[in-house]
Amino acid sequence: MTQHPKRNPEESLIERAAKVYDFGAHLRARDIPAFEEPAPFVDEEPAAVPPVTAHAQPVSPTLAAIPAEFLSDSDDDGLDEWEAPESDVAQIDRTMLAEAGMLVPGAPVGALAEEFRLVKRQLLLTARDIAAGPIGQRARTIIVGSGKPGEGKTFCAINLAISLAAERDVEILLVDGDFAKPDIMQRLGLEDSLGLLDILGDPRLDPETCVVRTDVPQLSLLPAGQRTHADTELLASHRTEAVIDRLLAANPRRIIIFDTPPALAASPASTLALLVGQVMLVVRADRTTEADVREAVQLLDGCEQIHLVINSVSFEPGRGRFGSYYGQEK
Ligand SMILES: Nc1ncnc2c1ncn2[C@@H]1O[C@H](COP(=O)(O)OP(=O)(O)OP(=O)(O)O)[C@@H](O)[C@H]1O
Ligand SMILES: [Mg+2]
Repeated sequence: MTQHPKRNPEESLIERAAKVYDFGAHLRARDIPAFEEPAPFVDEEPAAVPPVTAHAQPVSPTLAAIPAEFLSDSDDDGLDEWEAPESDVAQIDRTMLAEAGMLVPGAPVGALAEEFRLVKRQLLLTARDIAAGPIGQRARTIIVGSGKPGEGKTFCAINLAISLAAERDVEILLVDGDFAKPDIMQRLGLEDSLGLLDILGDPRLDPETCVVRTDVPQLSLLPAGQRTHADTELLASHRTEAVIDRLLAANPRRIIIFDTPPALAASPASTLALLVGQVMLVVRADRTTEADVREAVQLLDGCEQIHLVINSVSFEPGRGRFGSYYGQEK
């Protein structure tokens, strides 16, 4: 029987896994440079923490690797598949995406794109399975959450949306549900406009009129909207369910992805978890503790389907903390 070392509740998941399985010895035996090796996630008590879907590995900005035509407006970017008039379409800033190390629509497939293919495949399979059950069309809704701030929710939500939008037969609506710190529009280089909070606050507002279509085929956005002191109450109201159902009914191929605030710091994520089909819980490999994961899972367990995604995996034997942040010393 494996003898597990004593737990330190402050340890990140990757530190625990490294102690239990001696990653250093494993890497030395295979003669692999440690910084290139993504560390596996290890869950000793699978009953309480959901299984890991895949790793979103650290990436450094990939501008150099991306051909120029994908970074500038070109005739060959798939726009001809998109029927909306040019003036109605928001132009997503590919250079910003590349500089932030995110997926660039249409660019050659790299490691990150492969990781998100694995993640989305799992989410699509689950969505198909649960659609036949009581959740019905809400199977097409996904929350991207995490326990604490800065674990990569927005990074993963945008990448997931871009990856899913490349699928056939889907339309992706990425909703900024982080009312306290909305940044989806800004990260994509777009102006803010009316959004979810405005729709929730004004029953006369047709949700579809606030949906921002983009020049990435099959990708639309819904901004967070104007903040009010009653954000939480608005989100907890019946109108939220009605708005979600309306957005889903508007297009039977639509999948809605919500970026959310940290579950341990604010209530919107747990409120939304009651309404959606799946939760993708982002865990920062080098920072998130097991206690944080368990607490976040508890807060989000209004949703029956919770998947963990390990973000920013990096491991170097013999170091106090594991890995450098996104491959760069800080
Ligand atoms: N795998 C990654 N590779 C490169 N950069 C990353 C990765 N994950 C996160 N980041 C960067 O780390 C920073 C924090 O990530 P992000 O904003 O997505 O976290 P968050 O969970 O949404 O934070 P908040 O709770 O404040 O909204 C961002 O600058 C993001 O671009
Ligand atoms: Mg965020």
